[in-house]
Amino acid sequence: MEEKIVVQNGDLVTFVSRKGKYWIARVREHDALATHLGVVNFTDIVGKKRYGERVETSGGDELFIFRPALHEYILKKMKRGAQIIYPKDASAIITYGDIRSGMRVLEAGTGSGAMTCFLVEAVNKKGFVLSLEKRKDFLRIAKRNIEGFFSGMPSNLALVAGDMKEVSLRQKFDRAVLDLLDPWNVIDNITEALVPGGVLVCYMTNVPQLQKTYEAMKRSGKYTDIKCMEVLVREWIMDEKRARPKERMVAHTGFIMVSRRVA
Ligand SMILES: C[S@@+](CC[C@H](N)C(=O)[O-])C[C@H]1O[C@@H](n2cnc3c(N)ncnc32)[C@H](O)[C@@H]1O
Repeated sequence: MEEKIVVQNGDLVTFVSRKGKYWIARVREHDALATHLGVVNFTDIVGKKRYGERVETSGGDELFIFRPALHEYILKKMKRGAQIIYPKDASAIITYGDIRSGMRVLEAGTGSGAMTCFLVEAVNKKGFVLSLEKRKDFLRIAKRNIEGFFSGMPSNLALVAGDMKEVSLRQKFDRAVLDLLDPWNVIDNITEALVPGGVLVCYMTNVPQLQKTYEAMKRSGKYTDIKCMEVLVREWIMDEKRARPKERMVAHTGFIMVSRRVA
């Protein structure tokens, strides 16, 4: 992505306070952001401020302006239809699923589109993501969320309405990512679509799902090197006086199962 230096009309901007509190807003001239630290008028920003600079609120406090990171956008700005995959898990899915630039990735289901955004970034313009969702209302929400972050629909993404249990895909994929209630019921379809040597990642929230999926993979005889993991991220308080873990953390989100498709 080309870095624009001066904030443009319609840009999505993160405003960060000295204490690390942040707001995300689309800046349009004559519009404003109201915070407990006061109001920021966008007319003072659009075409004038550069990313990384500070702006002053009507209350005299300062906020710094940045481009929103994807994890911020997802946690703060995305409308939730279905429960999202948290950024901590999404990055593990990308890493352990070995999802890289130029790859063809199949995703089901799209849900709110959080994981889809990570996949689109990972495969780059050279790759391609086909994301399947059985609920049209969720697909609409996901489309809005994705377009909001990328300022339009990415050219390397196809959002498709359909049920993974029923579709027959003509294309082949290098990687597949499943986040649905019953991945064990779609293993045969996924195996058809995945190239030998490809990687399948299943995201699940409960242990019985893991067991059923593991058994389905073993039964198919098409998977090996099956690994299961979870990701715990403990944030710390860090300032001049303190450096210690926060008292609260998101303890459980889901489990990640990674396996390799054999020939
Ligand atoms: C937990 S959500 C996915 C959230 C998504 N990973 C995200 O990060 O926003 C699960 C989604 O899978 C969809 N789904 C469930 N079974 C499906 C199937 N067989 N085919 C396609 N989509 C399915 C559901 O409608 C739901 O939207």
